[in-house]
Amino acid sequence: MKHINAIILAAGKGSRMNSTKPKVLQTLSNKTLLGHVLMQAQALCSQVFVVVGFGGNQVRQSFKDDSINWVEQAEQLGTGHAVQQAMPYIDDDSISLVLYGDVPLIEQSTLEKLTTQAQKNGVALLSVMLENPTGYGRIIRQNNQIQAIIEQKDANIEQLKICEVNTGIMAVDSGLLKTYLSNVDSNNTQGEFYLTDIIAMAVGAGKTVASVIAENEFEVAGVNDKMQLAALEKTFQQNQASQFMQQGLTLRDSARFDCRGYLSFGQDCEIDVNVVIEGDVSLGNNTTIAPNCIIKNAKIGDNVAILPNSLIENAVIGDGASIGPFARIRPETKIGNNAKIGNFVEVKKSTIGKGSKISHLSYVGDTVMGAEVNIGAGVITCNYDGTNKHQTTIGDGAFIGSDSQLIAPLVIGKNALIGAGSTITKNAPDNALTLSRAKQTSLKKRKNHD
Ligand code: UD1
Ligand code: CA
Repeated sequence: MKHINAIILAAGKGSRMNSTKPKVLQTLSNKTLLGHVLMQAQALCSQVFVVVGFGGNQVRQSFKDDSINWVEQAEQLGTGHAVQQAMPYIDDDSISLVLYGDVPLIEQSTLEKLTTQAQKNGVALLSVMLENPTGYGRIIRQNNQIQAIIEQKDANIEQLKICEVNTGIMAVDSGLLKTYLSNVDSNNTQGEFYLTDIIAMAVGAGKTVASVIAENEFEVAGVNDKMQLAALEKTFQQNQASQFMQQGLTLRDSARFDCRGYLSFGQDCEIDVNVVIEGDVSLGNNTTIAPNCIIKNAKIGDNVAILPNSLIENAVIGDGASIGPFARIRPETKIGNNAKIGNFVEVKKSTIGKGSKISHLSYVGDTVMGAEVNIGAGVITCNYDGTNKHQTTIGDGAFIGSDSQLIAPLVIGKNALIGAGSTITKNAPDNALTLSRAKQTSLKKRKNHD
């Protein structure tokens, strides 16, 4: 078996995107189009070459991966010319797999089939059957064998009726590819060096071109504008949702669920509508996510209830916890087992001990809270003095009365009780009632309004 090199064409501008970004940097499921192709290429190939042109620097800088070989195509003179730019770096005794930076949903199994055929036959071409083949290069067959590819603009009326089209994706023995490419010219309607011309050359040299026909149109669909981008995003999401459901995830409406990253889950998890998952998210067993939640980079335990309209980012949520509705869990937060974070509560960079409750309208930031603490409605940890952030520590079993402000740095002792409406500026001892507010007085006679 020869090793495989990927050559990914990504030099085009993609003017129909109407964007300052090169086309291959548009994103699908939060990953660039080129990123999707690279992922597939790297899974199969020993080396990956990316041919860049328009916005080449911008494309290069978007990928930190040192293993990518960048090749410059200064002028876009055609697909054959583009592939040729990579050939000097490729060893003859290998297979070259040609991919496209704007064809993001190609699947590993298809590429495996194609490269396996190329190992045997020297040349293997991926085609697809289209109801409307307009615009594509047509596959010319004789006795069922591929003979040539004729571009739309060079085709005659009979050829234009052919519905089997070239996807552009092919796998070719590198030594042969070099020979064929050196003979490609630009004598065609577009004055371009066509990669597709190598097919007729191979046939002319007595080769049988192996054929793989793509099963799914989406795998070979290119992205030229924002409508096609949105259509492929939908396909991607639907495919992914189907996989999740097959693995046992309950999705109330798979068309209203987006995972733009990685999701893992245990058994019997349920996700309601309009939930967006980003980054790396894991759910334990029996966890439910109610409508309209956005969850990014989070580890969520067993039996957790995420109630409607909650946002969670870079956080760990313990088993049996309840979050929301309308909760915001910000980065570096750890919510303990069976803790409850209620509505309109924001928690930032804090650890909340097991069984603690922050049920209503609170801000808790830079706080280490013990177990079984009760935070009354409207409590605020005042963690910022305008320059620095300060820490609040709250001991196990403490009870903070509603509408209190805890001015950090501050330690509230174990089982401390803070009277409602207090502004606490100094440490509060264990097991004691601390309060700071003026005694209530009532004037004997109400002042006259005049
Ligand atoms: C090409 C194929 C056509 C096929 C179609 C599938 C040729 C001659 N034709 O046509 O048979 O049906 O793809 O979509 O190959 N690119 C470069 N450098 C260049 C030219 C192109 O990097 O000099 C890149 C483009 O960025 C694009 C891809 O190659 O991603 C295809 O180029 P494009 O000009 O769009 O080819 P088509 O005319 O669509
Ligand atoms: Ca073209």
